Amino acid sequence: MGKKLPEVLAFLLIVLGLLGAAEADDCSSSCTSSCDCSGKVFVTSIPQDLPTNTTDLDLGSNYITTINQSDFSRYRGLTTLKLQYNRISTIGSQAFYHLSNLTTLWLYGNPISILRDDMFTGLGNLQELSLNSANINEIQTGTFIPTPELRTLNLYTNKLTNLRSDMFTGLGNVQEITLHANDIIDIETGTFNPTPQLRNLSLYSNKMTTLGSGMFTGLGNLQRLLLSLNDINDIQAGTFSPTPQLTFLRMNHNKLTSLKSYMFTGLANLQTLRLDNNDITDIQAGTFSSTPQLKTLDLHYNKLANVRANMFTGMTTLQSLLLYNNDITDIQAGTFNSNPVLANLHLYKNYIQTIPSNLLVNLLNLTELKLSDNNISTFPFEDLSNIQTISVLHLDNNQITTLPSMAFETLASASDVNIDHNPWQCDYRMVSIKAKMTGSYPFENQITCSQPEQLNGLKLKDISSEDLMSNCEEPKIVRFERMDDVTLVLGGTLQLVCEASGIPPPDIRVILPSGLNATVVSVGRATVKATGTITIRNTTAADAGLYVCIAASQLGSKFSDGSAFATLVVDLETTGNLLPPVGSSRESGFSLADLLGAIFGSVAGTLLIVAIVLTIWFSRPKRNNNPPQSPEQSVVISRTKTESSASEPGREEQMLSYV
Ligand SMILES: *[C@@H]1O[C@H](CO)[C@@H](O)[C@H](O)[C@H]1NC(C)=O
Ligand SMILES: *[C@@H]1O[C@H](CO)[C@@H](O)[C@H](O)[C@H]1NC(C)=O
Ligand SMILES: *[C@@H]1O[C@H](CO)[C@@H](O)[C@H](O)[C@H]1NC(C)=O
Ligand SMILES: *[C@@H]1O[C@H](CO)[C@@H](O)[C@H](O)[C@H]1NC(C)=O
Ligand SMILES: *[C@@H]1O[C@H](CO)[C@@H](O)[C@H](O)[C@H]1NC(C)=O
Ligand SMILES: *[C@@H]1O[C@H](CO)[C@@H](O)[C@H](O)[C@H]1NC(C)=O
Ligand SMILES: *[C@@H]1O[C@H](CO)[C@@H](O)[C@H](O)[C@H]1NC(C)=O
Ligand SMILES: *[C@@H]1O[C@H](CO)[C@@H](O)[C@H](O)[C@H]1NC(C)=O
Repeated sequence: MGKKLPEVLAFLLIVLGLLGAAEADDCSSSCTSSCDCSGKVFVTSIPQDLPTNTTDLDLGSNYITTINQSDFSRYRGLTTLKLQYNRISTIGSQAFYHLSNLTTLWLYGNPISILRDDMFTGLGNLQELSLNSANINEIQTGTFIPTPELRTLNLYTNKLTNLRSDMFTGLGNVQEITLHANDIIDIETGTFNPTPQLRNLSLYSNKMTTLGSGMFTGLGNLQRLLLSLNDINDIQAGTFSPTPQLTFLRMNHNKLTSLKSYMFTGLANLQTLRLDNNDITDIQAGTFSSTPQLKTLDLHYNKLANVRANMFTGMTTLQSLLLYNNDITDIQAGTFNSNPVLANLHLYKNYIQTIPSNLLVNLLNLTELKLSDNNISTFPFEDLSNIQTISVLHLDNNQITTLPSMAFETLASASDVNIDHNPWQCDYRMVSIKAKMTGSYPFENQITCSQPEQLNGLKLKDISSEDLMSNCEEPKIVRFERMDDVTLVLGGTLQLVCEASGIPPPDIRVILPSGLNATVVSVGRATVKATGTITIRNTTAADAGLYVCIAASQLGSKFSDGSAFATLVVDLETTGNLLPPVGSSRESGFSLADLLGAIFGSVAGTLLIVAIVLTIWFSRPKRNNNPPQSPEQSVVISRTKTESSASEPGREEQMLSYV
């Protein structure tokens, strides 16, 4: 029973279908205003037994070979006539003469070859004429004069080789002409002068090599122009000057090698420009200044190697820039400075090694950043932290080794992240981002360690902070001494070096005799370089005294042995005065005890430092003409290896916690 019911239903459906088909015998005297005579093998000429008041007649896919005027004299009310895919090679003179109400005529798929000037006589109301796939190789002068109301003319997939200025005469209202898939090599100047209302023109898949300045004259209303799949290698100056309303231009799959600043002049309203799949190696400065409304620029599959800062200037409305599959190795800083609303930046499959810092920082509308399959080792994550809009971030298959802590928020807020296949270094640099992981973001699972060796293949999310820091070395001061051995004069320059070791490389800070700090970010008279070089310019008497160099771990308190320090006493030689003895220097303004008190804020610390300094002071060689500089004149202290005879481990630890 359960099987029978569907069968019965199927049978009923078939019967109903047959009845329906029989009822609507659309190709007989009984058809109503619309007669469908398509695909009836027996039709070899225009049937003469249909209602004379029929308006829509479909005779497609039959075997009609010839049509002439008498064929249609019975059907003067026709508005739509479909004759596609017959064998019509002969269209008699004025064949459609009686069809003055015809608006749509389909003749495609017939072997017509030549359009004559007497073919369309009488079609004064025709709006759509489809002549595609008809082997047409010639359009005689005046062919379209009888069809002034034509809106759409389909001429694609034919054999036209050159367009002449007399071919489209009469098409004063035409809005769309399709001419793709012909063999067009050239377009005579003025060809489109008779078609001022043209909106859409398709010329793709032809054989054009050069766009000349007269080709598009008359197209003052043209909006879409398709020129893809030609062999275009040159665009002459002025080519697009006649087409100021163009919004969409496709020139992909051509042979352009270099874009010049004169090529797109006149395209003040262009919004989309597709130039992908050319051989473009260079873009002249200012090329896109003539297209200030551009929103989408597609340059993928070209041969660009260097992206220079002047390539995309003037494109203040650019939203999508597609540069994937080029040969890009370098992107100059400032390249996107004049593209403030850039949203989609696709740069995948190139050879980029560095994304310059500040390149992306002002792209506050950035939503898709695709950089997969490059060779990027330096990526400025900090530049993305102000961009709230990123939803797609692809950085997979690159050479990125570490993720700074601030990258977490960016990666967490994007909905589509891929950072897979990078040689991640799972060491102290990943401690802070690891600490932020919650296990709820897919990207957390994409960080597979490449280094160090013992963590290779493990996921960062599964590694403890201790293991990440296992190869850390606490800060150590290797040397702290004067660099120059010349006599220091007042107003001269004093150079010291405080060289520190450690993994990660420690931050260097120097407490000057004045009690002020100098660090790598300091400006003014006293500067410190990351290498440990300390420079004090325009020295004064107050620059003499105790210098304390502190090497602090970047990991701060995370790394328990966070810092090391060393001291160095510098005396100024010029005055000829010895440095006043420690503790009795109030009148010279040098009070080490006070200074250290101010710095360390602890009597214990002060005592300790005083002890250190006194040790140095009394153990240093008798004063000679050279300023102190040899290693034994500085004291190097670290927690593991205390070189100061005066330091007590317990006290020192307490002091270290202050610095
Ligand atoms: C066409 O003409 C027939 C009579 O010849 C009439 O019955 C029919 O209603 C007409 N159809 C239309 C659509 O005018
Ligand atoms: C029109 O075509 C028919 C065949 O469809 C043919 O018999 C007739 O001679 C043709 N008339 C003219 C004027 O070509
Ligand atoms: C052509 O169309 C007009 C307007 O619709 C109509 O009045 C006229 O009768 C039509 N001509 C024929 C021959 O049907
Ligand atoms: C031009 O082409 C576009 C896209 O195919 C289409 O939406 C539009 O209607 C066309 N305009 C005219 C006038 O044919
Ligand atoms: C850019 O972002 C701003 C702020 O979110 C928004 O108001 C504006 O519409 C965006 N512009 C574009 C072109 O998307
Ligand atoms: C990738 O970058 C490295 C330097 O970081 C370079 O040696 C190598 O040749 C680059 N590889 C490619 C395919 O560009
Ligand atoms: C020097 O730096 C330390 C640590 O950052 C700070 O506590 C101290 O106040 C600074 N001293 C001066 C004088 O800026
Ligand atoms: C050093 O002094 C000279 C003149 O005395 C002055 O022009 C210069 O700016 C000073 N340099 C610094 C770093 O203060």
